[in-house]
Amino acid sequence: MTTTFDEYERVLWDGRADAYDRGFALLTARTAGPLLDAAKVGAGTRVLDVGTGPGVVSREAVRRGAEVAAVDADPGMAETAARNVPGLDVRVAVLPDLPFADAEFEAVAGNFVINHVGDPDAALRELRRVLRPGGRLALTCWEMPGSGALGIVREAMDEAGVPWPDDVPVSPFMEYGERAAFGELVRAAGFGDVGVDPLDWHHVVDPEEWWESGALARVGSNGFVLARQEPATVARVKAVYDRIMTRYAVDGGKVSLPAHALLAYGTR
Ligand SMILES: C[S@@+](CC[C@H](N)C(=O)[O-])C[C@H]1O[C@@H](n2cnc3c(N)ncnc32)[C@H](O)[C@@H]1O
Repeated sequence: MTTTFDEYERVLWDGRADAYDRGFALLTARTAGPLLDAAKVGAGTRVLDVGTGPGVVSREAVRRGAEVAAVDADPGMAETAARNVPGLDVRVAVLPDLPFADAEFEAVAGNFVINHVGDPDAALRELRRVLRPGGRLALTCWEMPGSGALGIVREAMDEAGVPWPDDVPVSPFMEYGERAAFGELVRAAGFGDVGVDPLDWHHVVDPEEWWESGALARVGSNGFVLARQEPATVARVKAVYDRIMTRYAVDGGKVSLPAHALLAYGTR
């Protein structure tokens, strides 16, 4: 069933693939290795990269010699993944409906996608359906509420007095963005040997590039809200953003932003 949140997500990602690829994808790439390790993906593993975006996880899985299929709900993301990972079998598909037979995969990996689906439980059951008995699932999400790298633009908007619009829906996954709840969600969908590990790192980036390829390019919900503001308001938010970024300054004009994710895994 398509929820209001799913409808919002289709609009959210529409036309954002290039900007995402230049900015956020450099942040999310950091968890591709641990994610594929948790899914036990190596040479010859038949793996599905769900919500591939611009192909971040697929690229690493192909590098490992895995046999990779990928899907994304956004056609632009799927096209970008196809460009970034030559020869990738990538299709447009929207969880919880996957165009694959039962038990097709030995592993399923989803990097920061479970927090973008309208019905996380239905999505997990679908991921389980396409896994073989004994197959491995691995998923990452951001620790909620958004902290560090993800929370800065929101903090700047709050401080600049930009109200959060009532029509921007909260992710149904929000309540699962902590270790115990994420693990319970995966267990409840029928997975065994479930574990959830924290993944913490620092993302070193030019703050102007982070602003340009993220908030200003309308990527993510913060960017979505910022894009509705008058130029004078955007300028006010940017001034607060610049001030916040000084807290994270490192050498070379860059900032080192803390990132906090969770990696959940289980066996079918
Ligand atoms: C935050 S991005 C993550 C992309 C990529 N996995 C990465 O590591 O950077 C979320 C992606 O999930 C996709 N997505 C959102 N809802 C989806 C759904 N219901 N089914 C499939 N993909 C979905 C979006 O189009 C977007 O490309």
